[in-house]
Amino acid sequence: MASNEESQDFTLKAEKAEKEIERLQAEIDLLSDPAQLKKEGLVSPDLEKLRVENQKLKFQLKHLKQSLVEEQKRGAGRNFSLDIRGIIEDIFALAIYRAFPEVPNPTILVMPSSKFADYQCNSAMSIAQQLGSITGQKKNPREVAQAIVKELPETEYFEKIDIAGPGFINITLKQEFVLREVAFLLTQGVKPPKTDKKRVVIDYSSPNIAKEMHVGHLRSTIIGDGLARLLEWVGHDVLRLNHLGDWGTQFGMLIAHLVDKFPKLLEERPNISDLQAFYKESKARFDTDEVFKRRAYDCVVKLQAKDPFYYKAWKIIYDISMEETYKLYKRLKVSDQLIERGESFYQDRMVAVVKELQDLGRIEKDEEGRMVMPVGGFSVPLMVVKSDGGYTYDTSDLACIKQRLLEENGDWLLYVVDSGQSNHLETVFKAAHELGWADKSKHRIEHVAFGLVLGEDK
Ligand code: ARG
Repeated sequence: MASNEESQDFTLKAEKAEKEIERLQAEIDLLSDPAQLKKEGLVSPDLEKLRVENQKLKFQLKHLKQSLVEEQKRGAGRNFSLDIRGIIEDIFALAIYRAFPEVPNPTILVMPSSKFADYQCNSAMSIAQQLGSITGQKKNPREVAQAIVKELPETEYFEKIDIAGPGFINITLKQEFVLREVAFLLTQGVKPPKTDKKRVVIDYSSPNIAKEMHVGHLRSTIIGDGLARLLEWVGHDVLRLNHLGDWGTQFGMLIAHLVDKFPKLLEERPNISDLQAFYKESKARFDTDEVFKRRAYDCVVKLQAKDPFYYKAWKIIYDISMEETYKLYKRLKVSDQLIERGESFYQDRMVAVVKELQDLGRIEKDEEGRMVMPVGGFSVPLMVVKSDGGYTYDTSDLACIKQRLLEENGDWLLYVVDSGQSNHLETVFKAAHELGWADKSKHRIEHVAFGLVLGEDK
């Protein structure tokens, strides 16, 4: 039991504290009411300082809350490996926001260090520049680095932080922390980080059948299958699509040629090497013989109209080519989840898309009678309908991106295609945004480009 004297002392203290709270509350009320402040004659440079201080506190609060969430995720019972660089980045981001709230979007640059430490933060140099352009005064990057280090929160991760050269911040990790993570790796294996599950549509391999597959398709197959596995392992819902070139001019050429050279096509299946020889012959005729060329285009139009003879001939060639393709997939252990969804799949959708574009007034006729769709920022429009009425690679990719966004509900679309097609794909992506199918805030659409492999003839 407290003595009489002690309890009196408590009462006094409590009263004093209550008074202090009242006073602070009045002050806060006053500060948050600019009109009242003016009346009191209190608008002064101090107010500006308070505003900045307030801004700073808000920043801090936001980032503290964020790191708290991260911290909880990293905490006990966790069943995934840590992204150590990501953690360091978060911690430095916090320190940078604290030290320089006036810099909008500061560069947060953390990377593994080769010699003197485990990681290094190289933000000071660019922040010094940003500060320079804000204040008009040059800032010394070393001082910037010092200010960042001063604001680093207390954590369990760092053994040593020091500043080197013009303002590199060297970061050495605590041994216990590294040990713990290594032990986790050894006992549990590599576990993917927590992710927001996304519906990923990935377009890869995508050879042009009836022609021989070339090394670019091989690259697309390998990179695409690897990416698909990785994204699935991380926890995404992955749809693998093989955008086969199965509806274009090559079939027109080949069918026109087969009509002359292999008229029993519908009864007697040619084998793949015959087919490849026929393809070469038809290509040579196509390139040199104008009359044949027109016949070939005519065949494409008939095929796209699904004329029964042409459609049957197409199906036979398709099946023979795919048998070959699957032999290769088997050798490469390509996922059997890769779905055949070539240009032919989009035929009806292409008809609908062309109509949609016409209704929207997005199509123009050019001087050669082709229907084109101009796309903002691109000098070459998309060619939607050729003068003979046939559809093109552009038409199928328009119908295809719409299908992936609005029917497959893809959040993230990946196109694993050689860099030679980057202009084509970027134009299609832009068109999808202009047409309202894609939404920047919802969809991530990317060309996963890889270099062209040139033949000896370059
Ligand atoms: N078949 C095309 C080619 O070989 C690649 C298709 C890539 N995918 C796409 N949606 N365009 O050039």
